[in-house]
Amino acid sequence: MLNGIPVGIVGLGSYVPDKILTNADLEKIVDTTDEWIKTRTGISERHIVEEGMSSSDLAIGASKRALEDAGITADKIDLIICSTATPDMMFPATSCIVQDAIGAHNAGAFDMEVGCSGFIYALTVGTQFIKSGMYRTVLVVGAECLTRVTDWADRSTCVLFGDGAGAAILQPLKKGRGFMGFELGSRGSGANLLTLPAGGSKKPASHETVNNREHYIRMDGNEVYKFAVVIMGEASLKALEKAGVNPEDVSYFIPHQANIRIINAAARRLKLDMDRVIVNVDRFGNTSCASVPLALDEAYRAGRIKEGDILVFVAFGAGLSWGAAVLEWGGEPLEEGESICQ
Ligand SMILES: CC(C)(COP(=O)(O)OP(=O)(O)OC[C@H]1O[C@@H](n2cnc3c(N)ncnc32)[C@H](O)[C@@H]1OP(=O)(O)O)[C@@H](O)C(=O)NCCC(=O)NCCS
Repeated sequence: MLNGIPVGIVGLGSYVPDKILTNADLEKIVDTTDEWIKTRTGISERHIVEEGMSSSDLAIGASKRALEDAGITADKIDLIICSTATPDMMFPATSCIVQDAIGAHNAGAFDMEVGCSGFIYALTVGTQFIKSGMYRTVLVVGAECLTRVTDWADRSTCVLFGDGAGAAILQPLKKGRGFMGFELGSRGSGANLLTLPAGGSKKPASHETVNNREHYIRMDGNEVYKFAVVIMGEASLKALEKAGVNPEDVSYFIPHQANIRIINAAARRLKLDMDRVIVNVDRFGNTSCASVPLALDEAYRAGRIKEGDILVFVAFGAGLSWGAAVLEWGGEPLEEGESICQ
C-alpha cells in the first residue's frame, strides 16, 4: 500500500477527432484486408485528425471535459502533466499550450515522453505531487496524433494506430483509498524495436532523412508483440501485489489498447473473464498514451464503473517501457480549505 494521503481521480474526460478511417479505407491505401487486420489486431476502425489538428487540440478537448466532470474551474489546477509521444513541436511543451487554452492560470506544466506507457507514468508522478503535499489538483492528460507520424506506405504499422486524448483530474481524498499501487519499468536494450528515427538531436531533419522515410514510426512488430504479451500480465500482478489486492478482487482491467490478442493474453495471465476487461481497440486502434484514459472514460460514462470498484491500468510501449496502476474508484475529495496534512 502507498503511504500518505489517498489520491484519486475526481474528473475524467476524453476526446477523439470526428474523422473515421475504416479497414475498408485502408484496403484502398495499402495491400491489406479487413479480414487480416481484424484477425491479427482486433481493429475495425480508428479516429484520425484532419489536416491542421494536433495533439494539443485533442488534449484541450479531453481536459475541458475532465474539468466539467470534476465540477471545478481551470484556475484550481496546480499542475498539468501531458504524456505524449507526438507533441505539437519539439518545444515548447504541449502541456503549456493546453495550460493557456484552458485558462489554467495557476498551473505549472510539463510533458512526459514514455511511449505508450506515458499515461501510467504521468498518473504515478501526479499522485506523488499530491501525496507530498506540494499540490492539491493535478491534471494528467494523455494525447496522441500517431497518424501524423505513420508511414502510410508501411502496411505492417499503418493499420494499427489512431488519434485521441484522455484526461484525469487528481485530488486528495478524505474517504476512499484512491491509488493503491504502481509498477513502472523499462528495458532500454529494446529501444531499437520501436522508434521514430529522425527529427531529434541524433539525426536532425535533412533531405536524406525525409527521403529515407525516417520521420515515421518504425517497429519490429513480432518482437514488440512477444514483449507485450508477457509484460502486461507481469506488471499488473506486481502492481496488485504492491497494492495488497488479489487478482480475483479486480473489478475491471483496463489495458493499453494495442492489439486484442495482447489484451486476451494479459487477461488469461490474470485469470480474468473478458467481461471484466475493458476493450475498445476495435473502434479506436492504438492511441498510445490516450488509450487507457479513453477506455476508462468510455466505461465510466457508460455507467460500468461503480464506487469502490478496483481498477487495474496497464500499458507498454517504446523504450521499451511499461507501467501499471491499481485504483479504488470513487471516494470523496477533500473540500477546498480542508488541510491536506494527515
Ligand atoms: C504488428 C502485428 C499486428 C503483426 O501481426 P503478426 O501476426 O505478428 O504478423 P507478422 O508480422 O508475423 O506478419 C504475418 C504476415 O502478414 C503480412 N502482413 C503484415 N501486415 C499486414 C497487413 N496490414 N495486411 C496484410 N498482411 C500483412 C506480413 O508481411 C507477413 O507476411 P509473410 O508471412 O508473407 O511474410 C503484431 O506483431 C503486433 O501487434 N505487434 C505488437 C505491435 C504493438 O503493439 N505496437 C505498439 C506498441 S505500443
